[in-house]
Amino acid sequence: MTAITLSHITAGYGKATVLHDVSLSVPSGSITTIIGPNGSGKSTLLKVVAGTARCSAGSVRVGGADLTTASERSRIAEHGIAYVPQLSNVFGPLTILENLEIGGATLSRRIRRQRIAEILEIYPDLAHRARARADSLSGGQRQMLAMARALMPSPRVLLLDEPSAGLSPKLLDDLFRNVRELRDRRQVTVVLVEQNAHAALPISDHGIVLVSGEVARDATAHEIAHDPAIAELYLGTGENLADGANA
Ligand SMILES: Nc1ncnc2c1ncn2[C@@H]1O[C@H](COP(=O)(O)OP(=O)(O)OP(=O)(O)O)[C@@H](O)[C@H]1O
Ligand SMILES: [Mg+2]
Repeated sequence: MTAITLSHITAGYGKATVLHDVSLSVPSGSITTIIGPNGSGKSTLLKVVAGTARCSAGSVRVGGADLTTASERSRIAEHGIAYVPQLSNVFGPLTILENLEIGGATLSRRIRRQRIAEILEIYPDLAHRARARADSLSGGQRQMLAMARALMPSPRVLLLDEPSAGLSPKLLDDLFRNVRELRDRRQVTVVLVEQNAHAALPISDHGIVLVSGEVARDATAHEIAHDPAIAELYLGTGENLADGANA
């Protein structure tokens, strides 16, 4: 089954078009990683699915529903789409608990409490400091809080924009394990934008290479990881992306 279908999307900012006729589909319960050079439109693509950027042409379908014109809130509350933007998205002056409460704003009070307890069990580092201000957390812990907050409403679709940025190797391992478990245990569909293709592709099912706002390659993660041309052309590394990956 298909979780997300983008058909002929054109999107951008003001007069500048960033995405040109982008079509792709993401199977349910899979992890899809999007890679590509800086400025190629990866974040814009996630924003189009999350509803924080509009497309001027094309359509967005999630879980069978046409969400092309749906509000961001309706995508979260009614269609189970969670989005963690690239730039850290926590409320610094609020506590960790308060941030989680905001993440669960669309839930009833009882369910919200239950979810907070479940989430704090998954993230013990956050549980230890539940009443501390979010801006007292390290960059990596803040990233974790952004993820925890997005998970509050038990989303069906999770959109993560460079979640590994600034994480230590240990936190990076934790993050990717967590993402894999969401797919394997809860059948969450994950779309991951990652610079760190070495870490992301081995846990991914599919890979999409975006170049200058167009889909340059759409294949299995395995094919993308083992294609030296992709590494050389689009990531400028010239090495095989599977090298050093603990697939
Ligand atoms: N809010 C905005 N207003 C105007 N232009 C924007 C905005 N956000 C992004 N852009 C432009 O859109 C293009 C694509 O940006 P986008 O953030 O989608 O790229 P990206 O692939 O995520 O890059 P990166 O790897 O650096 O995160 C860039 O040229 C960027 O300057
Ligand atoms: Mg980006």
